[in-house]
Order: sequence, then C-alpha cells, then structure tokens
Amino acid sequence: MSISRRNFLKAAGLVGVSSVVPYAYLKANGTRFDMSEFRNPLAIPPEDKGKIINGKKVFELALQHGSQQFYRGFNTPTYGINGNYLGPVLRLKKDDEAVIKVTNNLSETSTIHWHGVHLPAAMDGGPHQPIPPSATRTSAFTIKQRASTQWYHSHMHERTAEQVYYGLAGLFYIDDDQSESLSLPNEYGVNDIPLVLQDRMFNQDGTFQYISNMHTGMMGLLGHDMLVNGVLRPKHNVPHKYMRLRLLNGSNSRIYNLSFSDNRHFIQIASDGGLLPESVSLRELLLAPGERAEVIVEFGVNDDVMLRHTSNKLSGMGGMRGMMSMMTSGTDHDLNIMRFVTDSPVDNKPSLPMKLAMLPNWNANKIDQHRKFDLDMVMMSGFTINGRQFNMKRIDAMVRLNNVEVWEFRNNTPMPHPMHIHDIQFKILSRNGRQPPLNERGLKDTVLVQPDEIVRVITKFENYADPKSPYMFHCHNLEHEDRGMMGQFVVV
Ligand code: C2O
Ligand code: CU
Ligand code: CU
Repeated sequence: MSISRRNFLKAAGLVGVSSVVPYAYLKANGTRFDMSEFRNPLAIPPEDKGKIINGKKVFELALQHGSQQFYRGFNTPTYGINGNYLGPVLRLKKDDEAVIKVTNNLSETSTIHWHGVHLPAAMDGGPHQPIPPSATRTSAFTIKQRASTQWYHSHMHERTAEQVYYGLAGLFYIDDDQSESLSLPNEYGVNDIPLVLQDRMFNQDGTFQYISNMHTGMMGLLGHDMLVNGVLRPKHNVPHKYMRLRLLNGSNSRIYNLSFSDNRHFIQIASDGGLLPESVSLRELLLAPGERAEVIVEFGVNDDVMLRHTSNKLSGMGGMRGMMSMMTSGTDHDLNIMRFVTDSPVDNKPSLPMKLAMLPNWNANKIDQHRKFDLDMVMMSGFTINGRQFNMKRIDAMVRLNNVEVWEFRNNTPMPHPMHIHDIQFKILSRNGRQPPLNERGLKDTVLVQPDEIVRVITKFENYADPKSPYMFHCHNLEHEDRGMMGQFVVV
C-alpha cells in the first residue's frame, strides 16, 4: 500500500477528521464514565404480530425515507421500515405460515433478507431478489425452527453496507411452546428488551457520514458514536430485577467486547439459533456483526451502570498482522453504549433452568461433505473466499438436500471475519482444533473467525432444495461483503 498509516486511517475515517463531530469523539474516548451524558430515553421498537388472514400471519413492511434527530436540533436523513429508522420487531411462532409484503418507497432498489431464518432460497431476500422503487415483493414461508432472535436487513448487491447504515434493519423473533413455558423474563419492552447495537459517524451538520473507499473496504467502517435501537447515549430505567436483553450486533464492522462498568456477571441464555444447552455466566461477551446473544442481567436497588465496549486486544503479532493490529487497536477505542438505572425493583427472580435446550446431534464422524473455505486478502481489492470474489452468476458450492456437512473457514488474513451462512443454523465444532467456549456451544449462523484461526462448523441442509435459487454465505463485516467477500451455494 502506497499510503502512510496516518493517511490510511484518515481516509478510513478512523482518526478525528475535522468533519466528524469532535465532541462525540472526545467523549467516546474518555476513560471516565460520563454517566450524565447518557439521558436520552431508550426507544423500544414496536412489536408487529401480523394480521391473521386465512390462517396465515400477514405482515406489511414499507421501506421509506425518514429523518431523525440523534443529536437534538440536527435532522439526520435516514432509511426506515414502517418508521424513520430501523423497523418493528416481527413476532412469529414456530409453525406459523408467514406472508411478508415488503414495499419499497425508497428512491433506490433494495432487498430485505431474513437473517438466520430457515426458508426456501427464493424467499430469502438476497441480492437475487431486488425490490425496485415502488415495487412490492412478498416472502411466504413456514417457520420451521425453534424459538430464537433473528433479524432482517437490506442485502442489496454492493449496497448492503450503506443501506443498513442508514437504517434498513429490524428484529425477527420466533417463539415456540418451550420458550413460552420456560420461566424466563418474557414481557416485551418490560423485562425482555431488544438492544440493537450500531456504531455511527456523524458529519457536523448531523448527517450520517458513510465513507466507502478502499480503506473502509479493508478496515470496515467504525463509528465513534453508539446508537442503541436508534438512540444516541440512551438511559433505560429498569423496572424489574431481572432483565432479559436481546442483543443484536447490527453494526457494519465493529466487533463488541461487551461488559458492564462494574464488571458484574450476567448470564447468557441464547445465541443466534436460540437457547444454549446450558446457561453461561460471563463478565465479557464478544459479539461480532450479525451475531445475537440473549443475556439475563440482575439489577439491584440503586444501580446505575454503563454497558460498554472495551477494545479488543490483539497482542504479540509482527509483520503485516502487527501493523493491522496496531491500526485497529489505535482506532478501536473503548465506547460507552448505554446506561441502566434501577427505579422500582420487583422481586421476580426467574428460576433459571440448568438445562435450557436440546440441540441437534449431528455426528462429525459421519458427514456427507467437508468443505474448506480459505479467506485471503488481496492488496487493493479486498478479501476473497477460496481465491475468488463474489460473482452473482457463479455457484460456489452445490449441496445435496439432507447432507450433513462440515464447513471449515481458514482465516489467512490479519483481520477477523464474522462468517455467516444463510438458510441453516450450525454448531461450532472447533476453533483451531479446540472446543469453542461454553457460550458458543449453541446454534449459530454467524461465527467470528480470528486471524490465523481455523473454525469448523457442522450443519444439516434440510427441507428446501432449489437448483435455481442460491443462498449466500459471506463475511458479515458489511464493507467486506459489499466488496465481494461472499459466495453462493444451492441446495439440490
Ligand atoms: Cu445478515 Cu447474508 O446476511
Ligand atoms: Cu443471512
Ligand atoms: Cu471480513
């Protein structure tokens, strides 16, 4: 690369360039907790349970232009779904027949993909199913998976990153009989709340600063300001003693290392694909773009704590790897995310069952196919999977229906890549030959693959075969995805 480190960072928007709101930058960098800055009420997205028509649950979503004041007094042009920014929480139950009509009222073509949802490829909302302005596209499918926190977002060819940045994303909850009968906090908006985490850059006039260039294509776009459910510096008054937080990393590239300012323990109960086999007590949780985690947090009588991100430490690396880690650690500073204040504690201790869920029992010794995917970096042009960049006309893998397969991602680059596979949920078999941590032993659809790491996952491709409609698999760093770090598979 023929540019200096500083210019590299500057072009990537990763240093305090003058067009960035400097106030936010300084605050975000502060080591002390500016609790009082966090006073905007947290927004809870509306729940949408659909309308029952002929036994089906029908949803109507409109992609639209919006405007929102993240900074008071500054109007930020946004994209939203049935609103100004982000969309409603769609709520469905296992065995529901869903009909989702998406109307595009934007002035550009878009798509909406149902991330983590097991459905026919033709309904998946990927880049092959564009919705031009004024058009409506309907996805109809039956919910065949267990209770979990899924989501939806734009998957427009080469425009995903910017469209998501402007607000085209929302949550998609699936319930089932088990999730309804467990004694977990489940009162939506009361003791069961979604937290969509997104970092953003703002220009001084309040508009979003989305930078697309070679550098953000490599490093991803990191913002200095945190939004939670579209609110900057939120504070949430916690009415109950035990809260269930459904976390979604809806950021383009930032990987969060989440913890509370007092280092309290919290309990993770679910990952991308639903409940874990057993709950796991944690003080820190790593959450990469696209990933979800459900956690239970106990709040005491006079709590006033910050949920924060402390920068990921990559250590002891030389060469290119060292340079990249220096650049990312120089820019991946700590961020305060949101503040929780207890107002009226209620004694409602949930009796957390020790065993939460049974998982499919795929046998790694009896698989039908083992596929290897090498992740590499090509100077100036980005990242490749098995030496190739995305081509909509090329199918990269043909999977037989009902195959149990092991997919192996080998990261030969100095950057982490959250790898996501459409259609299925998988189990992580190993990270560099070792068992994954306890909170990664549930079902997943996105797995963070660290530099020099080999991650093996196992899954089964069921129910839906269609030689004509591909599913995507890709890095969920959206800047990487848009620049071709994506492949396609068909189930036949
Ligand atoms: Cu979250 Cu290919 O998608
Ligand atoms: Cu997806
Ligand atoms: Cu990547």
